[in-house]
Amino acid sequence: MPTALITGASRGLGEHIARALAPTHDLLLGGRPSAELDALAIELEGASTFAVELTDYDEVEAAAEAISSLDVLVHNAGIASSLETVEMTPVDEWRRLLEVNLIAAAELTRVLLPALRAASGHLVFINSGAGRRANAGWAPYAASKFGLKALADALRLEEPTLRVTSIFPGRIDTEMQQDIVAIEGREYRPENFLKPSTVAAAVAHAVLTPADASPEEIVLRPTGR
Ligand SMILES: NC(=O)c1ccc[n+]([C@@H]2O[C@H](COP(=O)([O-])OP(=O)(O)OC[C@H]3O[C@@H](n4cnc5c(N)ncnc54)[C@H](OP(=O)(O)O)[C@@H]3O)[C@@H](O)[C@H]2O)c1
Repeated sequence: MPTALITGASRGLGEHIARALAPTHDLLLGGRPSAELDALAIELEGASTFAVELTDYDEVEAAAEAISSLDVLVHNAGIASSLETVEMTPVDEWRRLLEVNLIAAAELTRVLLPALRAASGHLVFINSGAGRRANAGWAPYAASKFGLKALADALRLEEPTLRVTSIFPGRIDTEMQQDIVAIEGREYRPENFLKPSTVAAAVAHAVLTPADASPEEIVLRPTGR
């Protein structure tokens, strides 16, 4: 079976992507070390963990050394911002968002490029609606996701043997969204948001697209149905 590494697979969208790819791929489940990550690796046949803090670049490089060939890399790990205005956003918040959402993805890509080239692999970047349009209060998060699109676009041109897909989902029913809605002071209604299983199905569809086509961008907006 081909091998897929999914970052942020311990919960939320990443866990659903792991479940969607499990029937067709041997999985490497990314996430910081946790009981949840270990339990998922036991539950999904053919899965093992890639348990690293993605901003610890020595740890990331050491973990990547064990991977000589990689068919699929899903960059899913990410964090949300504090929803402050630019005026209220301190430098550390900018650094935190750009580090996890953008720089860590660039570095993980860099250290895994030889393994991806060896398999003529496929990179999937979980972007966001915020990576296409920035709203008030979302500057650091949107900037990190606009940057992630730039990373994907440049990589697609630099590495013509690889497929590179950016997926732009609207709001998804996950813990991240619960935290955002709490900060916004609104009532949480799961039915207003995309199901993580639906977004995961789109990821699997992109990955399983026959090799004569490259699915470059997928935009998903909630219908409220
Ligand atoms: N939820 C939404 O509405 C929404 C909408 C559009 C796009 N997205 C994007 O979808 C992706 C997944 O979001 P989600 O809603 O599933 O978030 P989530 O429920 O908060 O899960 C985030 C995942 O990322 C991992 N992670 C975060 N920081 C990490 C770090 N420094 N090192 C290693 N792993 C780290 C977490 O691992 P730990 O368990 O170790 O913390 C967790 O597995 C993100 O890129 C997000 O921007 C989300």
